Amino acid sequence: MIVQLPALIRVFLDAWLVFFIAMWVIFPAYLANAVAVPLARRIHFRPIDRGTFFLGQRVLGDGKTVGGFLLASVVGIAGGLVQQLVAGPVAFYLANEWTLVYHPLLVPSWHLSTYVAPSVGGVLRALLLPPGAMAGDLLGSFIKRRLGIPRGRSAPVLDQVDFLAGAFLLSLVLLPVQESLLDIDPWYILLIIIITPPIHLAVNKIAYKLRLKDVAS
Ligand code: CTP
Ligand code: MG
Repeated sequence: MIVQLPALIRVFLDAWLVFFIAMWVIFPAYLANAVAVPLARRIHFRPIDRGTFFLGQRVLGDGKTVGGFLLASVVGIAGGLVQQLVAGPVAFYLANEWTLVYHPLLVPSWHLSTYVAPSVGGVLRALLLPPGAMAGDLLGSFIKRRLGIPRGRSAPVLDQVDFLAGAFLLSLVLLPVQESLLDIDPWYILLIIIITPPIHLAVNKIAYKLRLKDVAS
């Protein structure tokens, strides 16, 4: 039975569903990026650049370690695979309990079966997005050092989107099998790019308050 919901509530439900799918797709990259910081900070890892300099600055700085890279990648991959395990029931719930009761205006039902339900593409992205995100984070630090910004000092926008760029770029190896982030409906990707900086800042502020992080940037 289709419920006739007031227009405002339908707009809200649609927006929520679009947001949910966008977050669902990018989740492994988010997890890797959110975990490196609080976990790796507690362990003394070896800097990737081994203390070397380039053009008068550290190549990457002490904040980029081999252990941090691997730990965050492994946690992101593990989380992404667990996500694939629960993806079946989640997609089933959305396709039956949700979208059968009200018809979303913005989200065609195949988006649920393609982007949310478990899939080979989902598993491949779970394996690639976390290391891609961490590689993007390295590239971000490399650029910061070249701009003369010391380790730990904030670089607005760059700090928030470097991991996204890395995840996006590494996912492009899946272009031949049409499972890269470029193969996801571009509206979700646009939404991810737009809302990542505010989400990142909000999460960092909370992590700072909980003393998981030194700087609230
Ligand atoms: N971290 C790590 N290895 C990585 C990435 C992060 O060990 N590859 C840990 C470091 O302890 C780092 C912390 O997570 O200090 C926070 O990460 P991030 O904010 O990316 O590094 P910053 O210290 O701010 O350094 P940068 O200025 O280069 O971004
Ligand atoms: Mg930082």
